[in-house]
Formats: sequence, C-alpha cells, structure tokens
Amino acid sequence: MTQSGQAPILEIKGLRKEYGSTVALHDVHLTAYPGEFTVILGRSGAGKSTLMRCINRLVTPTAGEVRFNGSLVTENKRALRLHRRSIGMIFQQFNLVKRLPVLKNVLTGVLGYKATLPAVCQMFSREEKLRALECLDRVDMAHKAFQRTDTLSGGEQQRVAIARALNQRPILLLADEPVASLDPTIARTVLSYLQKINEEMGITVLLNIHQVNYAREFGRRIIGLAGGVITFDGDVSSLTDDILSSIYGGRPEDTYDE
Ligand SMILES: Nc1ncnc2c1ncn2[C@@H]1O[C@H](COP(=O)(O)OP(=O)(O)O)[C@@H](O)[C@H]1O
Ligand SMILES: [Mg+2]
Repeated sequence: MTQSGQAPILEIKGLRKEYGSTVALHDVHLTAYPGEFTVILGRSGAGKSTLMRCINRLVTPTAGEVRFNGSLVTENKRALRLHRRSIGMIFQQFNLVKRLPVLKNVLTGVLGYKATLPAVCQMFSREEKLRALECLDRVDMAHKAFQRTDTLSGGEQQRVAIARALNQRPILLLADEPVASLDPTIARTVLSYLQKINEEMGITVLLNIHQVNYAREFGRRIIGLAGGVITFDGDVSSLTDDILSSIYGGRPEDTYDE
C-alpha cells in the first residue's frame, strides 16, 4: 500500500516478540501513512496488544525495528517521552481516574499515560482548561466536564478517554480493543467518534479489534493477525470469507459480536 509523496508515520520491519517460549509476534512488517484508519483484526491471543505495545515501547521487541514519524523507537528515555507524547493510547478499560471530575482526567492526559499524584494535584491554566473542554466537545462530552468520572456510563467514559488522548495533540492514536466491554450500539458510537477524529483532524488511527463486523464497518485498511503473523493486509473490500478463515483459523464464534 503505497501513497506517493508521503513519508510513512510508522515503519515496522522484522518485528519479533517472544515471552519465554511464546512467540507473540513473528517477522511483522507494516508501513502506515498519515491519515490512515487501519484495523488490526485477530482473535484473542493473536498478538494485537503486543504489536501496539511494541509501537509505544511498553514492551521491548526481541528483534526488528519500529520507526515512528521518521525516527527509530529506542529505549532512550528523553526520545521515548517525546515519542509517547505524539501517540494517544486508548484502552479497553478506559484507564481513567474514576473519583476525579471528567475535565481533570482530560487535563492529565497531556502529562503522559497514567495520572500520577503530582499530575492530579497540578493547577492548570485557563488556556489548558479551555483546550481540554474543546477536546471533550469533539466527543460531545463537554456538558459532563465537572461530573465525577465514575458517574458516567462505559461508553461515556471511553469518550472521555478519547478526549484525554486528543489533549496530548497526538499524530497517531492506538486504540486497543476500545469497545470490547461495551454493548454493540454504544460500541458503534465510540467507533464513530474515532472515525470522525480520523477524518476531521487527520489523526492516523490504528484500531485493534476482534469482531469482524466492526472491522468491516469502520476499517478502510485491514491487517489480519493470526498467531503473531500478518496473514492479510489490504482494503476492507477484499476481506473475503477465505481470508477471514485464515485470520480466525476456523473459529468463527470469535468473530461476530451480534
Ligand atoms: N506479558 C506476557 N507474558 C507472557 N505471555 C504474554 C504476555 N503478553 C502476551 N502474552 C502472550 O502473547 C500472545 C499474544 O498476546 P496479545 O498480544 O495479548 O494478543 P491479543 O491482544 O491479540 O489478544 C498470547 O499467546 C499471550 O498469551
Ligand atoms: Mg489484546
């Protein structure tokens, strides 16, 4: 998949990750261009989360290289901090501080992945607060800014998590099974916001998902992952039943949510 004239935002070559005797990723090659909305599709255990964790270096690859926005992702602390700042992360379990007001969760997003105590206690400027409100408005959650986060529904909490990621001003969003714990209607709403952010803000999105129906509905480019190996990489329109069985290995019960 080449897009002439544009430098890749992500270039992964020969990526391998072993956990003891388990090979979670095997010789993964992947190039992504700015503005793409890509779904990484695969059943549980396929290696989807490991792939994302190699991109933001939450795990160290056994072999291979990851290049993000032109530079090699390494262990260098300062480089890694900058690198992570440009990558928004959205998790299945939202990872919000539940007892804090919504706005505070969004404000702490600029400081890294997890809200630490100093981050939570920090005072924020009027500009920072206005910006956080704008991010909440992107996901139609500005009206809940001062509500305690644990009073929101799951879908609303995930939208707040998206706003928090946006407040980092990311150029890449990694969403790791963001709707796995939400019911289908709510799941679609959350995925529509990711789609809208991709289309309107031009932020590149990589979405891990195990349900084929959501992949078909929201993905443009689909990457099928099975047993740590990429078995398909192409346009959603060429995702045939044969390809699906190569991704799912004859376990179709995993593939649909409804
Ligand atoms: N921290 C870990 N320690 C040992 N094995 C792991 C660890 N994380 C993942 N694995 C294994 O690596 C494989 C891929 O896991 P994962 O990336 O979580 O897949 P997915 O996100 O597609 O469900 C699985 O076999 C899983 O059991
Ligand atoms: Mg996973």
